[in-house]
Amino acid sequence: MAQKIFLYPAWIRFWHLLNALLCLLLIVTGLSMHYSNPGALVGFRVSVQVHNLSGIILSLNYLIFLVGNTITNNGVFYRFALKGMIDRLFKQFGYYTGGLFKGEKAPFPINESRKFNPLQQFTYGSIMYMAVPLVIISGFIMLYPELILPHFKGLIGVFLTDLIHITMGFFISVFLIIHVYFCTIGHTTISNFKSMINGWHEVH
Ligand code: HEM
Ligand code: HEM
Repeated sequence: MAQKIFLYPAWIRFWHLLNALLCLLLIVTGLSMHYSNPGALVGFRVSVQVHNLSGIILSLNYLIFLVGNTITNNGVFYRFALKGMIDRLFKQFGYYTGGLFKGEKAPFPINESRKFNPLQQFTYGSIMYMAVPLVIISGFIMLYPELILPHFKGLIGVFLTDLIHITMGFFISVFLIIHVYFCTIGHTTISNFKSMINGWHEVH
């Protein structure tokens, strides 16, 4: 029997499940709007409505993440020291691309005080504290352009906002693919997915 540690309390699991489903919806509807001519996966009108509503729910859900990470100690796992970071990232990358396949021990084993390895810490931190806030802010500006954009360079403002929105949406989409792949590297292929449902992480 694998050793188990409790890493994901209910609020994280709730936030994460909703966040994952909404991101998938936002990606599908976002791409459908972007490639709407001559036709896309989902019709343009439906895409706009679903995208706007999902965007607003995702933003409210993000507040759960922010408040949760502030009032519990979960936020601590997202803070990393810049000093030596490149070395730690390379060490972890080396393990994922070599050591793992030779049966070597993980350089940064997961435990109650180290929930994320350096690569997880860096990517989760960048996505949750940079890409998601930027996609939300740019999304709201596009949702209410008449309120904000006339004060900020008119059409160039619209173009720049959209560019930021699409770029961050792209980063989130690429992150999602890599994230799900890395989640299969656990005690068994599905054990990390189970841990995001029951909260218990099986030690690799
Ligand atoms: C995973 C997150 C998201 C992705 C991947 C994404 C992707 C996209 C894409 C690809 C477009 C089409 C842009 C174009 O072709 O020029 C778009 C438009 C838009 N997005 Fe997002 N988006 C995300 C989150 C959000 C959020 C959180 C909001 C709102 C709070 C939002 C609001 C909008 C708005 C208002 C538009 C303009 C079209 C419309 O009125 O629906 N998006 N998004
Ligand atoms: C199909 C979609 C997704 C699946 C199946 C999935 C799966 C998982 C799993 C299994 C874990 C636990 C990792 C582990 O035990 O090593 C996790 C954690 C995490 N995921 Fe996802 N994920 C998805 C989408 C997303 C998206 C869209 C984001 C961000 C935009 C995200 C951000 C995170 C973060 C920040 C954590 C760590 C949470 C914490 O403990 O504080 N995930 N995910």
